Amino acid sequence: MASDTKATAGAVAANSMWGGRFDVPPAEIMQAINASIDVDRRMYRQDIAGSIAHAEMLAAQGIISSADAAAIVRGLEAVRAEIETGGFAFKKSLEDIHMNVEARLAELIGQPAGRLHTARSRNDQVATDFRLWVRDAIDALDGQLADLQRALLDQATAHAETFMPGFTHLQVAQPVTFGHHLMAYVEMLGRDRGRLADARRRANECPLGAAALAGTAFPIDRHRTAKALGFDQPAANSIDAVSARDFALEFMAAAAICATHLSRFAEEIVLWTTDAFGYVALSDAFTTGSSIMPQKRNPDAAELVRGKAGRVIGELVGLMVVMKGLPLAYGKDMQEDKEPTFLVADTLGLCVAATAGMVRDMRPDKAALRAAAEGKPGKGFITATDLADWLVRTLGMPFREAHHATGRIVRLASERGARLADLPLKDLQSVEPRIDARIFEVLDVERAVRSRGSFGGTAPEQVRGAIAQARKRFGL
Ligand code: ARG
Repeated sequence: MASDTKATAGAVAANSMWGGRFDVPPAEIMQAINASIDVDRRMYRQDIAGSIAHAEMLAAQGIISSADAAAIVRGLEAVRAEIETGGFAFKKSLEDIHMNVEARLAELIGQPAGRLHTARSRNDQVATDFRLWVRDAIDALDGQLADLQRALLDQATAHAETFMPGFTHLQVAQPVTFGHHLMAYVEMLGRDRGRLADARRRANECPLGAAALAGTAFPIDRHRTAKALGFDQPAANSIDAVSARDFALEFMAAAAICATHLSRFAEEIVLWTTDAFGYVALSDAFTTGSSIMPQKRNPDAAELVRGKAGRVIGELVGLMVVMKGLPLAYGKDMQEDKEPTFLVADTLGLCVAATAGMVRDMRPDKAALRAAAEGKPGKGFITATDLADWLVRTLGMPFREAHHATGRIVRLASERGARLADLPLKDLQSVEPRIDARIFEVLDVERAVRSRGSFGGTAPEQVRGAIAQARKRFGL
């Protein structure tokens, strides 16, 4: 392959960017491994914005003429328009987005284009573009996550009094409301948004002007370019500025945690939509049928949200492994940073949107949820804790003793194939003679739920308060 591309020294321009020292163009396979344009072309807007800020700064500092800067800016805007209208020919031979844009700029405006790269390297350029891209991705995801929270809040409002079993160990534990359960995810997503916002804050420093790694002898103004691009400040250390990719890792880590939350919810949707649970139905819009089994309605979107979380986590680990052995400053390994980051942003965006769609689509079956909370006769005993608490409150029993007495009552109910609420008073009294008829008030599922009015608890009035608070706290 290499021999195909051998050219007579000087006969072909080896490379328009560094042809001075090079006689022959790269081997085909070298180009194949080296080119990143198919991936990093997505950063064209950030690349052009960075170049415009750089050119304007160079002119303001008297490093290039205002006329050249104006030609560069106009040219870059023309390049952007070409890309956006699909008229731009991306070339692998030009390796990446930075060189593709600059080469086209030279075609459009001629000589002044050659002045754009003064006091700059692709190392600070790519670091700047990539930070801008991650920042945009975070902003887009934040809006999507807020939308998902809104969808959950609306369902929680509609189901603040829909009773269902709460689980630990996936065993029936205590009755809760469906609204309360959904609000747990509103909290998780709120923290996810907080983590993304934290990552954004730390990412928001401008590498531009770090040049290759050491800064530059030109009298540039890094504060000006940082401000023009909406960064909080220029990155303080030029070596760090071109070497750091923890902003991408942090974004991906926050995204991976968020994907984990979505995956847990997806798993619950998968369970809830089974015949065995039958808690929730998804419409045709969010299910698929089977090509062989006509009765099927599969929760594919939920399964894919669950599955894609695995890939998001994998991409985070992948980039951490790429970075862990790299000496300072820039190494070409770091070009491998964009594909996983883009994939994570795209995948998470898709998962958040699909989850919001499912939340709006899902129809909880109130009767089925309530029946599951009541439990089948001889099974579940979901209000056992309420019974024990009653013994403590009304009879002044120590909780451990009450726990033991309740355990004996549960065993009795199990032997009789009854629910706790269905046991005759004399059976209850056979275990603890001081029990009286008031105990039946707490054995009822609905009363049990209403009684849990502690802050953050499942009582409907607490859930309604939590919904109102969440709307305020998260600005929804
Ligand atoms: N395409 C490269 C990347 O994404 C740009 C930086 C190249 N720098 C260099 N010194 N070769 O990392």
